[in-house]
This record gives sequence, C-alpha cells and structure tokens, in this order.
Amino acid sequence: MQPAQETLTWEESGNLFAYPVLVGTDARLSVLPLCKPFDRVVCLGDSTVLRLHFGSLPWLETIPTLELPPGEGSKSWQHLEATVDFLASTGCSRRSLLVTLGGGVVSDLGGLAASLFKRGMGVAHVPTTLLAQVDASIGGKTAINLAAGKNLVGTFHAPQFVLIDPIFLTTLPRTEWQAGLGEVVKTALLARRPIWQALQEQAPSLCQPGQQPSSAWNELIRACVQTKAQWVESDPTEQGSRKALNLGHTFAHAIEHAAGYGAIPHGIAVAMGLVLAFEASRRLGLLEQFELESSLQATLQALGLPLRWRDWQTDPGSRLEVAQLQAGLLHDKKGAAFEPRFVLPLALGQVRWDVKIPEDLLHELWTTFLSERKAETDR
Ligand SMILES: NC(=O)c1ccc[n+]([C@@H]2O[C@H](COP(=O)([O-])OP(=O)(O)OC[C@H]3O[C@@H](n4cnc5c(N)ncnc54)[C@H](O)[C@@H]3O)[C@@H](O)[C@H]2O)c1
Ligand SMILES: [Zn+2]
Repeated sequence: MQPAQETLTWEESGNLFAYPVLVGTDARLSVLPLCKPFDRVVCLGDSTVLRLHFGSLPWLETIPTLELPPGEGSKSWQHLEATVDFLASTGCSRRSLLVTLGGGVVSDLGGLAASLFKRGMGVAHVPTTLLAQVDASIGGKTAINLAAGKNLVGTFHAPQFVLIDPIFLTTLPRTEWQAGLGEVVKTALLARRPIWQALQEQAPSLCQPGQQPSSAWNELIRACVQTKAQWVESDPTEQGSRKALNLGHTFAHAIEHAAGYGAIPHGIAVAMGLVLAFEASRRLGLLEQFELESSLQATLQALGLPLRWRDWQTDPGSRLEVAQLQAGLLHDKKGAAFEPRFVLPLALGQVRWDVKIPEDLLHELWTTFLSERKAETDR
C-alpha cells in the first residue's frame, strides 16, 4: 500500500517572503543602506571571497569581519564557537546584524550562529556562489555537520535581507558553477513553464564561468529565488510541501555518500538524482508529462551536466556498486528511519513527496545508473 501522499502545484504555493531579496548588478552595494535599523553590523566572510572581491566591497572597510577558511570543514562546532565568540567580542546585541559573505557554507554557519547568539540576532546574506544565490541563502535553514552526517545540527532562522550580485560569479571555479546549475535545473522543474522554457533556450550560453552573466541570466536567478521562496513560504519548517525542494535529493545524497563526501559536488549529484527521479516516476506510472524527461536530459547535457555515473567519473578505478548506493540511501536523514522516501515529479511545477520505491525497482534504477550504455534521451 502506498503511504498518504500530497501534491501541490506552484500556483497554489502562496506568497513571497517578508524580507527583501535584491537580485542584480551592484546589489552587493546595498548592504549599508539596509543596515540602518541595526545597532551594530559585523561580517562573516569566506577567505577566498574576501581575497578576490575585497576591492569591490567598500562596506567591508567599515565593519568588523571574521574570516572563515573555505570548504565544508568550516561547518563545524569549532567554527560555530569561533563565530559566536566573535559576535560577543564585537559587542553584538539581539538588535545587531551578522552579514555573511560567501557560499552556502558561510550562510549556513553564520545563520546558525546568529540564531543562537543571545537567543537570536539578525543575519543577512550576500551569497557568492551560484548554488548559494539560488538555493542556500533563501529559506532560512542553517546548519553545521557532525561526524555522523551532514547538516545534523541546525535551526530555521530567516535572514533580514539577501543581496544577490552576479559579479561574484565571474570568479567562480567551473565545478562550483556546474554544481549551482544542478540546483538551477531542479528549481526550474518546480517552477512555471516560462522558467523551464527560458532555461532550455538559454542553456547553451549559460555555462560560461569567467564571463559577466547576461541580464537574461539575472532574470533566471530571480525566477529561481522566487520559485524557492514560494515553496518555502507554503511550509517554512518542512512539514509537507517544502519537501518538494528535495526533488532528486534522496538519490543525490546516496550518490554522495557512496562516492565518499567531497568526491562529487552536491549540485552535480543532484543533476544525476533528477534523472533517477524522473525514471522512477515514469516506471511507477506517476509521470504525467513524458516529454519532460527527455527535455530534462537534453537540458542537462546542454549545460555540461552528467546524466549517469559514467558521464561524471570515467576512471574505471573509481567504480561504484549498487550495494554502496543502496547503503547510501539509508544515510539520508530526510527519510523515515531506514525507509527512504522520495520526491517524484508528476509534471512541471508538480511533485509528490514521501513516495516509497519498491526495493527491486530501486535496484534496477541503480543498475541503469551505473551501466556503461548511453542514456536514452528520446522516448
Ligand atoms: N541552507 C540551505 O537551504 C542550503 C541549501 C543548499 C545547500 N546548503 C549548504 O550549502 C553548502 C554548499 O554551498 P556552496 O556550494 O556555495 O559551497 P561553499 O560555500 O563551500 O563554496 C564553494 C567554494 O567556492 C568558493 N567561492 C565562493 N564564492 C566564490 C567566488 N565568488 N569566486 C570564487 N570562489 C568562490 C569557496 O571558497 C569554496 O571553496 C553545503 O554545506 C550545503 O549543505 C544549504
Ligand atoms: Zn541541494
């Protein structure tokens, strides 16, 4: 028997956030005007971003800044303690503001520190990776990692504002760019048709790290932010509909776990997870728009994203086994105890969550995922 399942379409998912999210050229310069209501402003910055972009962020010279080493390792108790100590030593109160400058690591850690300090002070995000701009900076989830797993300690703490400036993307390494694109594709699938169409049309010209993003690209980021905001607003603490944002993620987390954390960027695993979710949905008779599966595959290919394991990892020495991927599924914290649940697509902007996939079908999906044969792009 299938468990109780719910569906929600984009149109039904409610209003936008109460806080401002500015997207566009020079958005980064709005920090000081927006900081006026706060009694003190401090910054937590990724050290790589500080090095690359200090010159274009004049407000940095006026506020105390704590540098954070780059990488996932900074989402730790040690750096949480250092950040909270920094808030105390700079005299922050509950009416102060912590501005995070960097990718999802900095916004997750800074958001958590701000939510804990004096039982909650303000946080604002200036996201500098594509992934953080379309995903991590929006929605108020915060976290650090434990040895037992990713994001196991966290809170919900909505930011006061988010400033999304494309200038940061010009220095983004190619892999980080691709990882962000994986989440862009996921978000566009949860959105209305014009956004998905715009992504398909622009895909060939979007994968250009190092270049100033076009205004069309700004529009796409804005649309992704809006889409995420609407799904979050419908269910801020993820009791139901917000789970839609985990489309492709149960599979992706299993792939990341099986490959060893850090071996594959999260957003790239998400791209492969989306392909698996569509295949699962079709095989279970849930997918209503068959053509969406082939247009997903074509879009991922146009963006230079992998569909299957062999598209990403060509080294025969790094083979994965189905058993490793199955074991990886049991480590996804979003599943009920030892029973993974999946978000599966029905149509554009429409998904079903909390779906169980029979063991034998999962086995077949993983076998296809690991196979050497070319993905079928046309059905
Ligand atoms: N809270 C949420 O809702 C949410 C959603 C998605 C992901 N996340 C979290 O976000 C994290 C991943 O975020 P991420 O992909 O931004 O990773 P990240 O913050 O580790 O940044 C990736 C790398 O890019 C570098 N970098 C950042 N901006 C740069 C720039 N403009 N130019 C050059 N280099 C730059 C960083 O130094 C780092 O080495 C994960 O920990 C994930 O759990 C949170
Ligand atoms: Zn993700």
